[in-house]
Amino acid sequence: MRKPIIAANWKMYKTHDEAKAFLQEIDGLVAADGEIDTVLCAPFTALCTLSEMAKERPVSLGAQNMHWEDEGAFTGEISGQMLSALGIQYVILGHSERRQMFGEMDDMVNKKVLAAFRHGLTPIVCVGETIKQREQGETQKILKKQTERAIEGLSSDQVKQMVIAYEPVWAIGTGKTSSPEDANDDIGFIRRVVADQYDQVVANEVRIQYGGSVKPENIASFMAQPEIDGALVGGASLKPESFLQLLEKAIQYTK
Ligand code: PGA
Repeated sequence: MRKPIIAANWKMYKTHDEAKAFLQEIDGLVAADGEIDTVLCAPFTALCTLSEMAKERPVSLGAQNMHWEDEGAFTGEISGQMLSALGIQYVILGHSERRQMFGEMDDMVNKKVLAAFRHGLTPIVCVGETIKQREQGETQKILKKQTERAIEGLSSDQVKQMVIAYEPVWAIGTGKTSSPEDANDDIGFIRRVVADQYDQVVANEVRIQYGGSVKPENIASFMAQPEIDGALVGGASLKPESFLQLLEKAIQYTK
C-alpha cells in the first residue's frame, strides 16, 4: 500500500512571515490522522522559520532545489547538508521550470538525487514532456529518458523511498490538465520504466504523483486513479483555504 503524498510547491512566492501565517492558518486541520503525507516546499528563506514550527505539526518541509556538492565555491547555491541540518525532509529536483529556465540537464538532476540521499533527504523528482513532444508522440520516450537517468545509481531501497512527480510541462500553471486516465497511463508507464531498471517490487512501492493545474475541483479525479499517489500542487497551494480543501478531498483516497 502506498501512502498518498500531497506536496505544495510554492515556487518563488511567500516571505518568511507569509509562510508562517500560512502554517498557522492550516493548523490542526492538516491530515492529522497521518493517512496522507503533507509537504510544504517553501522558498529557502522561509524554511528556517518553518522548520521550528513544523516540529509540532503533522507537516513535512521540502526545498525546491539544491546543489549536488556539500559545500564549496558555488555562489548562490544551497546544499543538501544545509537542508538536512535544518530538519528539512524533502527536496523537489528537476522541476521543469529549473530544466527550462536554469538549464538543468538529466545528469545534474541525477547528481542532485544521489546527493539528496546522502543527506537523508527524500527527492521529489519531476519528469514530464512539453506540448511539442506530446504532439509528436514522444511522451514515453521523454519520460523513459528522464526517469532512467534520474534514478541511475540508486539502490532499490532508495528508489522505494523516493517520490516521482509526473508533471506534463504544458499543464503547469496553465489551467489545462492531463485527463485523469491519461495521467494514470503515463504514470503507469513510469512505473514500468522503474520495474525494468529495478524490479516489480520496487516499482510497486515508489510513489508517483501527478502535477499540473491540480486544484480542489479536480484532485479527486486524479486520486481515484490506481497509479496516482498524490499531487504536486503549485498555484492552488498558495491560499490556505484552497490547500485545505484539496487535502480534505485527497485524504479520502488511500492505496
Ligand atoms: P501548478 O504547478 O499546480 O500551478 O500547475 C505545479 C508545479 O509546477 O509543480
